[in-house]
Amino acid sequence: MSTIYRKGPLPRYYQLKEIMREKISNRDWQPGQLIPSERELSEQYGMSRMTARQAITELVNEGLFYREQGKGTFVSRHKITQQLLHLTGFTEDIRARGQRPSTKVLSMSMSPADEKTADYLRIKPGQLVFTLQRLRLADDEPLAIEVSHLNFIGCEKLLEEDLEQHSLYQLLETRYGMILIEAEQELEAGLISSKESEKLKVPIGSPALYTRRTAYIERNQPIEYARSIYCGRKYVFYTSLKREQLFS
Ligand code: GLP
Repeated sequence: MSTIYRKGPLPRYYQLKEIMREKISNRDWQPGQLIPSERELSEQYGMSRMTARQAITELVNEGLFYREQGKGTFVSRHKITQQLLHLTGFTEDIRARGQRPSTKVLSMSMSPADEKTADYLRIKPGQLVFTLQRLRLADDEPLAIEVSHLNFIGCEKLLEEDLEQHSLYQLLETRYGMILIEAEQELEAGLISSKESEKLKVPIGSPALYTRRTAYIERNQPIEYARSIYCGRKYVFYTSLKREQLFS
């Protein structure tokens, strides 16, 4: 598809999306390249700017494009990728993508650990842990909601930290001397619920990726148990696999 069919059954924004998708897949538009503006696209394909904007916005939401304020819209290198091999935090993942991470703290408290959290953190249920709920964004686009529970001596001091301006992992390592060395993470497919859809600005029922992470400091001691919900359309988890020599 390279032109817009006016009489066809497909809406124009959808056709433009397909045209742009093709430009990406056949490398006409290279990763990192600035794409034409809404005005240019609307003139070239004979449609309103609003229609062109809708097509661009949907491809931003799908992770194929990303926006830079004041600069324009660019072709993504690939969807935002979280490496499953390296223990990285959200801020690092997004920066590695050349995007700007930001955070909205939804709640922060010292609250009693439920059975599951206590089990993961290897503490007694009811023990007070630092609980942080955050909305995580990349270039101002909401990507994930994360609830982290932390347990270490002095964790209540985190209540005084500005967790909108600072990365949790960076604070843990630089201010609290908590050096994370490994983590276990589970992934599960799901659907965005109505509560999450409001915060993540995606339709109810769109694909979601649920993760549960337990992060450890030295000597195999868990200090963080976190549950996250990522927008499935915007996120990719990457892992590389090595086959062991089973046959010789
Ligand atoms: C990831 C993990 C969370 C962790 C966060 C730290 O998103 N799923 O468990 O809390 O990274 O990110 P940051 O250092 O940006 O606060």
